[in-house]
Amino acid sequence: MADRVRVAVLISGRGSNMVALAEHKRRDPTRTYDIALIASNVPEARGLVVAKRLGLKSWAKSHVGLSREGFDAELDVVLHEHKIELVALAGYMRLLSPGFVDTWSGRLLNIHPSLLPAHRGLDTHRRALMAGDEFAGCSVHLVTADLDAGPVLAQEKVRILPRDDAESLAARVLEAEHRLYPVALEEYCRLIAGASLPRLPDRS
Ligand code: GRF
Repeated sequence: MADRVRVAVLISGRGSNMVALAEHKRRDPTRTYDIALIASNVPEARGLVVAKRLGLKSWAKSHVGLSREGFDAELDVVLHEHKIELVALAGYMRLLSPGFVDTWSGRLLNIHPSLLPAHRGLDTHRRALMAGDEFAGCSVHLVTADLDAGPVLAQEKVRILPRDDAESLAARVLEAEHRLYPVALEEYCRLIAGASLPRLPDRS
Protein backbone atom coordinates (compact mmCIF):
# COMPACT_ATOMS: atom_id res chain seq x y z
CA MET A 1 0.00 0.00 0.00
CA ALA A 2 1.29 3.47 -0.84
CA ASP A 3 2.12 5.98 1.92
CA ARG A 4 -1.20 7.71 1.43
CA VAL A 5 -4.36 5.64 1.52
CA ARG A 6 -6.84 6.22 -1.30
CA VAL A 7 -10.19 6.80 0.36
CA ALA A 8 -13.71 6.82 -1.08
CA VAL A 9 -16.36 8.64 0.96
CA LEU A 10 -19.90 7.30 0.60
CA ILE A 11 -22.74 9.76 1.14
CA SER A 12 -26.50 9.91 0.70
CA GLY A 13 -27.32 13.45 1.83
CA ARG A 14 -25.85 16.80 2.82
CA GLY A 15 -22.28 15.48 3.18
CA SER A 16 -21.01 17.71 5.97
CA ASN A 17 -18.74 14.95 7.31
CA MET A 18 -17.37 14.43 3.80
CA VAL A 19 -16.52 18.14 3.72
CA ALA A 20 -14.79 17.85 7.12
CA LEU A 21 -12.63 15.00 5.80
CA ALA A 22 -11.79 16.91 2.63
CA GLU A 23 -11.00 20.15 4.52
CA HIS A 24 -8.71 18.35 6.95
CA LYS A 25 -6.77 17.02 3.98
CA ARG A 26 -6.75 20.41 2.22
CA ARG A 27 -5.27 22.12 5.29
CA ASP A 28 -2.30 19.74 5.23
CA PRO A 29 -1.65 17.78 2.03
CA THR A 30 0.79 15.49 3.87
CA ARG A 31 -2.11 13.77 5.67
CA THR A 32 -2.08 9.97 5.48
CA TYR A 33 -5.09 9.81 3.15
CA ASP A 34 -6.25 11.12 -0.21
CA ILE A 35 -9.94 11.61 -0.89
CA ALA A 36 -9.97 9.87 -4.25
CA LEU A 37 -13.73 9.54 -4.79
CA ILE A 38 -17.12 10.60 -3.42
CA ALA A 39 -19.78 7.99 -4.21
CA SER A 40 -23.50 8.14 -3.62
CA ASN A 41 -26.62 6.04 -4.01
CA VAL A 42 -28.64 9.28 -4.28
CA PRO A 43 -27.79 11.21 -7.47
CA GLU A 44 -29.53 14.35 -6.16
CA ALA A 45 -27.67 14.33 -2.81
CA ARG A 46 -26.72 17.83 -1.76
CA GLY A 47 -23.24 16.65 -0.82
CA LEU A 48 -22.47 15.85 -4.46
CA VAL A 49 -22.86 19.51 -5.40
CA VAL A 50 -20.45 20.46 -2.64
CA ALA A 51 -18.02 17.72 -3.69
CA LYS A 52 -18.00 19.12 -7.20
CA ARG A 53 -17.34 22.60 -5.87
CA LEU A 54 -14.40 21.21 -3.89
CA GLY A 55 -13.03 19.65 -7.06
CA LEU A 56 -13.50 16.09 -5.83
CA LYS A 57 -14.25 13.23 -8.20
CA SER A 58 -17.69 11.77 -7.76
CA TRP A 59 -19.87 8.90 -8.89
CA ALA A 60 -23.59 8.52 -8.27
CA LYS A 61 -26.23 6.02 -9.18
CA SER A 62 -29.66 5.43 -7.71
CA HIS A 63 -30.10 2.08 -5.99
CA VAL A 64 -33.82 2.13 -6.78
CA GLY A 65 -34.83 -0.97 -8.72
CA LEU A 66 -31.55 -2.78 -8.00
CA SER A 67 -31.01 -5.56 -5.50
CA ARG A 68 -28.73 -4.73 -2.59
CA GLU A 69 -26.14 -7.18 -3.93
CA GLY A 70 -26.49 -5.84 -7.49
CA PHE A 71 -25.96 -2.24 -6.47
CA ASP A 72 -23.05 -3.06 -4.19
CA ALA A 73 -21.38 -5.10 -6.95
CA GLU A 74 -21.52 -2.03 -9.25
CA LEU A 75 -20.19 0.16 -6.48
CA ASP A 76 -17.38 -2.29 -5.86
CA VAL A 77 -16.33 -2.15 -9.52
CA VAL A 78 -16.24 1.67 -9.40
CA LEU A 79 -14.17 1.61 -6.22
CA HIS A 80 -11.78 -0.79 -7.88
CA GLU A 81 -11.54 1.41 -10.99
CA HIS A 82 -10.49 4.30 -8.75
CA LYS A 83 -7.97 2.14 -6.90
CA ILE A 84 -9.73 2.74 -3.60
CA GLU A 85 -8.11 1.19 -0.54
CA LEU A 86 -10.48 2.32 2.19
CA VAL A 87 -14.16 3.29 2.28
CA ALA A 88 -15.45 5.90 4.74
CA LEU A 89 -19.22 5.98 5.19
CA ALA A 90 -20.46 9.48 5.97
CA GLY A 91 -24.23 9.61 6.19
CA TYR A 92 -24.57 6.70 3.75
CA MET A 93 -28.17 5.74 4.42
CA ARG A 94 -28.20 2.29 2.90
CA LEU A 95 -27.37 -1.05 4.45
CA LEU A 96 -24.47 -2.76 2.73
CA SER A 97 -24.69 -6.35 1.53
CA PRO A 98 -22.79 -8.99 3.54
CA GLY A 99 -20.57 -9.72 0.52
CA PHE A 100 -19.48 -6.08 0.23
CA VAL A 101 -18.81 -5.82 3.97
CA ASP A 102 -16.77 -9.01 3.76
CA THR A 103 -14.70 -7.81 0.76
CA TRP A 104 -13.92 -4.52 2.48
CA SER A 105 -13.43 -5.97 5.95
CA GLY A 106 -10.93 -3.84 7.89
CA ARG A 107 -11.19 -1.15 5.22
CA LEU A 108 -14.69 0.12 5.93
CA LEU A 109 -15.28 2.93 8.47
CA ASN A 110 -18.43 4.68 9.62
CA ILE A 111 -19.31 7.59 11.86
CA HIS A 112 -22.32 7.15 14.10
CA PRO A 113 -23.93 9.92 16.17
CA SER A 114 -23.93 8.14 19.54
CA LEU A 115 -21.51 6.75 22.06
CA LEU A 116 -21.63 3.18 20.80
CA PRO A 117 -22.62 0.61 21.90
CA ALA A 118 -25.41 2.90 23.13
CA HIS A 119 -28.14 3.81 20.64
CA ARG A 120 -27.28 1.85 17.54
CA GLY A 121 -29.45 2.58 14.49
CA LEU A 122 -31.48 5.71 13.77
CA ASP A 123 -33.01 8.48 15.90
CA THR A 124 -30.07 8.44 18.30
CA HIS A 125 -30.40 11.93 19.77
CA ARG A 126 -34.03 11.55 20.78
CA ARG A 127 -33.24 8.18 22.30
CA ALA A 128 -30.28 9.59 24.27
CA LEU A 129 -32.60 12.30 25.67
CA MET A 130 -35.36 9.79 26.46
CA ALA A 131 -32.87 7.57 28.29
CA GLY A 132 -31.81 10.50 30.49
CA ASP A 133 -28.18 10.07 29.43
CA GLU A 134 -25.65 12.53 30.82
CA PHE A 135 -23.56 12.37 27.65
CA ALA A 136 -24.26 11.92 23.98
CA GLY A 137 -21.49 11.92 21.39
CA CYS A 138 -20.20 10.21 18.30
CA SER A 139 -18.19 7.13 17.40
CA VAL A 140 -15.99 6.17 14.48
CA HIS A 141 -16.07 2.41 14.05
CA LEU A 142 -15.19 -0.37 11.69
CA VAL A 143 -18.18 -1.72 9.81
CA THR A 144 -19.03 -5.38 10.31
CA ALA A 145 -22.05 -7.48 9.38
CA ASP A 146 -24.07 -6.27 12.41
CA LEU A 147 -25.41 -2.71 12.22
CA ASP A 148 -23.26 -0.19 14.15
CA ALA A 149 -21.65 -3.02 16.11
CA GLY A 150 -18.07 -3.12 14.75
CA PRO A 151 -15.00 -2.23 16.83
CA VAL A 152 -14.96 1.41 17.94
CA LEU A 153 -11.82 3.33 16.88
CA ALA A 154 -12.54 6.73 18.42
CA GLN A 155 -15.25 8.61 20.31
CA GLU A 156 -16.00 12.15 21.41
CA LYS A 157 -18.42 12.87 24.24
CA VAL A 158 -20.91 15.74 24.18
CA ARG A 159 -22.61 16.75 27.42
CA ILE A 160 -26.40 16.81 27.27
CA LEU A 161 -27.73 20.12 28.58
CA PRO A 162 -31.04 20.54 30.43
CA ARG A 163 -32.44 22.74 27.64
CA ASP A 164 -31.49 20.30 24.83
CA ASP A 165 -33.97 18.91 22.37
CA ALA A 166 -33.05 16.40 19.67
CA GLU A 167 -32.24 19.20 17.23
CA SER A 168 -29.92 21.21 19.46
CA LEU A 169 -28.17 18.05 20.60
CA ALA A 170 -27.76 16.82 17.01
CA ALA A 171 -26.15 20.14 16.05
CA ARG A 172 -23.55 19.91 18.85
CA VAL A 173 -22.88 16.23 18.13
CA LEU A 174 -22.39 17.09 14.46
CA GLU A 175 -19.69 19.60 15.40
CA ALA A 176 -17.98 16.83 17.37
CA GLU A 177 -18.30 14.50 14.35
CA HIS A 178 -16.50 17.03 12.19
CA ARG A 179 -13.61 17.13 14.67
CA LEU A 180 -13.47 13.40 15.32
CA TYR A 181 -13.82 11.77 11.90
CA PRO A 182 -10.85 13.43 10.14
CA VAL A 183 -8.51 12.68 13.03
CA ALA A 184 -9.73 9.08 13.36
CA LEU A 185 -9.46 8.51 9.61
CA GLU A 186 -5.98 10.01 9.56
CA GLU A 187 -4.89 7.78 12.43
CA TYR A 188 -6.43 4.63 10.97
CA CYS A 189 -4.83 5.27 7.58
CA ARG A 190 -1.47 5.70 9.31
CA LEU A 191 -2.01 2.29 10.91
CA ILE A 192 -3.06 0.43 7.79
CA ALA A 193 -0.46 2.07 5.54
CA GLY A 194 2.18 0.23 7.55
CA ALA A 195 0.18 -2.94 8.26
CA SER A 196 -0.49 -5.98 6.16
CA LEU A 197 -4.24 -6.02 5.81
CA PRO A 198 -5.58 -8.84 3.63
CA ARG A 199 -5.20 -7.91 -0.03
CA LEU A 200 -8.29 -6.79 -1.87
CA PRO A 201 -9.34 -9.35 -4.46
CA ASP A 202 -7.95 -8.62 -7.91
CA ARG A 203 -11.02 -7.97 -10.05
CA SER A 204 -9.20 -7.18 -13.28
C1 GRF B 1 -24.24 12.27 10.64
O1 GRF B 1 -24.84 12.62 11.85
C2 GRF B 1 -23.63 10.90 10.73
O2 GRF B 1 -23.13 10.59 11.99
C3 GRF B 1 -24.81 10.00 10.44
O3 GRF B 1 -25.54 10.68 9.44
C4 GRF B 1 -25.27 12.07 9.54
C5 GRF B 1 -24.74 12.51 8.20
O4 GRF B 1 -24.54 13.90 8.12
N1 GRF B 1 -24.37 8.68 10.06
P1 GRF B 1 -23.71 14.51 6.90
O5 GRF B 1 -24.34 13.99 5.62
O6 GRF B 1 -22.29 14.07 7.04
O7 GRF B 1 -23.88 15.99 7.04
